[in-house]
Amino acid sequence: MPFPNVRMRRLRKTERLRGLSRETVLDPGDFIYPLFVCPGTGVKNPISSMPGCYQMSADLIAEECEEIEELGIPGVILFGIPEAKDAVGSHGYAADGVVPRAIRQIRDQVPGMLIIADVCMCEYTDHGHCGVIRDGDVDNDPTLELLSKAALCYAEAGADVVAPSDMMDGRVAHMRRTLDEAGRQDSVILSYAVKYASAFYGPFRDAAESAPQFGDRRAYQMDPPNIREALREAALDIEEGADMIMVKPALPYLDVLNRVKAMSPVPVGAYNVSGEFSMIHAAAEKGWLDLKRTSHEMLVSIKRAGADFILTYFAKDVARDLRS
Ligand code: PBG
Repeated sequence: MPFPNVRMRRLRKTERLRGLSRETVLDPGDFIYPLFVCPGTGVKNPISSMPGCYQMSADLIAEECEEIEELGIPGVILFGIPEAKDAVGSHGYAADGVVPRAIRQIRDQVPGMLIIADVCMCEYTDHGHCGVIRDGDVDNDPTLELLSKAALCYAEAGADVVAPSDMMDGRVAHMRRTLDEAGRQDSVILSYAVKYASAFYGPFRDAAESAPQFGDRRAYQMDPPNIREALREAALDIEEGADMIMVKPALPYLDVLNRVKAMSPVPVGAYNVSGEFSMIHAAAEKGWLDLKRTSHEMLVSIKRAGADFILTYFAKDVARDLRS
């Protein structure tokens, strides 16, 4: 007879007992901090829908990385806002583009920083889609060439990891081949293997100025109700050579994350996306939610669901909280 012998509340009585019983513990080492690189020097533009986040020029990004390093956060993921956009996103694979410049500057100033370069066309195309357009739709196979070019360009600038986020078919295999042929066998591919066509990316598209100018991304990103499809996507990317994979968004897809983690032989990250960040800030500003407690609870739930690491705009704040 469990009760009255068993009393679950005994182990909840003090913080030290709760500490001994704690199954999941957040650590700054779990986090990757996303950064938005823009042209120029000394530029720091606040992103209105993402409190505390900025578009920054390469020099300030490198300074920011010093702080990130001090906080014990192992790495950053870079998104570029280019000088100019065109139909084929050519600034996305220019050797002197915003992202390669930032990579070199970080490498110079904070040599140990883990640098992940997001690889996608949507920030660089004038139509805002994640590839080249033919007949009103993104044309898969020609897009692979451009993505691989971008990945190689970032690897050559010094990125440790390239992270394709476009959801084209076959991009991981294509990218692996391109990197290997150029002698970049050591470049890591972190695939956004399971990425949904989510409404939670709204604030990011303001930040990266990457909203599609017509239509939406449902013809290439995944349909939110699907989970078997997620397992297929993950399996295919692993087979194509992804070293690590990602599920995105995180909070509305914890079931997916949990299932992907259970089947994956490679590390699984989760992207706690812009909308997940902004909605908590908005509620906190209104006094409806406690910012610190809700952000910690959200991140620990993502880790508990199975994330090996978490890309999050909360990284700096939570790392600071964890230290104090
Ligand atoms: C680019 C990309 C997006 C995000 C990361 N990479 C947006 C999109 O697919 O529209 C979203 C990140 C966020 O919302 O924080 N393809």
